[in-house]
Amino acid sequence: EQIDLVADELEVGGHANFMHKEMLEQPASLRRMLSGRLDERFATARLDGLGLDPRELRTFKRVKAIGCGSAFYVGQLGATMIEDLARIPADAEAASEFRYRNPIIEPDTLYVAVSQSGETADTLFAVREIQRKGGRVVGLVNVVGSSIARECDGGIYLHAGPEISVCSTKALTHMAVGFALLALALGRVHDLSYAEGSRIVRGIKAIPDQVQQIVDGEARIADLAAGLSDAQSLFFIGRVRGYPVAREGAQKLKEISYQHAEAYQSSELKHGPLALISPEMPTVAIVPDDELLERNLGALHEVTARGGEVLAVTHEAVELAGLDGIQRIDVPRNEVELDPILLMIPLQLLAFHIATRLGRDIDRPRNLAKSVTVE
Ligand code: G6P
Repeated sequence: EQIDLVADELEVGGHANFMHKEMLEQPASLRRMLSGRLDERFATARLDGLGLDPRELRTFKRVKAIGCGSAFYVGQLGATMIEDLARIPADAEAASEFRYRNPIIEPDTLYVAVSQSGETADTLFAVREIQRKGGRVVGLVNVVGSSIARECDGGIYLHAGPEISVCSTKALTHMAVGFALLALALGRVHDLSYAEGSRIVRGIKAIPDQVQQIVDGEARIADLAAGLSDAQSLFFIGRVRGYPVAREGAQKLKEISYQHAEAYQSSELKHGPLALISPEMPTVAIVPDDELLERNLGALHEVTARGGEVLAVTHEAVELAGLDGIQRIDVPRNEVELDPILLMIPLQLLAFHIATRLGRDIDRPRNLAKSVTVE
């Protein structure tokens, strides 16, 4: 059965291209990834591939994610989940920078190499640099037996299945869910209670069905894409948990539509880029229903007051009254710590539909390769 499933994933089937197929595959591939990995009895994640028992896991005082392109942005999203759930400092860095800046490697930092292909040269060399200096690095990798998977000291396989489209979608969602599992496991060996762990286990279990709900809303996202496809340039804004989501959304759009898109922290808008806001410069805003909502709405007021059009990717409970020229995509609510995973999905569909309207080569965008194995 497993072999049939993988064989199916190598065919484009009834879809126009692999990117579309891979986006729609996500609920099924996520169910496969999660099977056997949630431990309800102890309200934690079962991650045997890490090769770290709970006592070893507890010794890490920091986490650092490294990856390139979208894998770097998901690493940043993962770092926020780790800080939220495990309350240990976590951050992310582009592997391409990390490897060249003589990084300080600490024995009590857990390094996480994030890669769909497992062959990205910059990420692989960063792994070797960490190991040379005595650091412990685990992989969050999709391709089984790939170089990064083999050379890491353990890891979490993503089990997304083959991803053919150069633009990554399902593998990224799997990376984000992989980080949620890691954050839960790290949380449960620190101060995350059994009850809180159970809340996160329930949240993670709900993700595949909620992703299904989002992809079922594709037609509306396609309509909204029509209004954005002639923009020369777009802003993507988000704050704290929403910022990595904005960065990934802007990246996706650049990769396949060739439109200029720039991600900014909502909090930083007023410190410079507000000068660019005009009716010609639409903004895609990540507006989760969390403790930062009032602040995010404040930023939206600043944009709409200057004639900027806004598309808010948000939750149903969020009131957007009083904002002119605003459109919305509502995603299902999960736990606040996990919401960013779901907020990324509409941005995949949005980039896809904008690029389709512009007649771009969806699976093979110009100048890009699926994995960059050269220096
Ligand atoms: C290339 C691709 C990006 C991808 C990055 C990392 O630059 O164009 O879309 O995010 O590599 O790839 P990886 O296989 O390491 O996740």
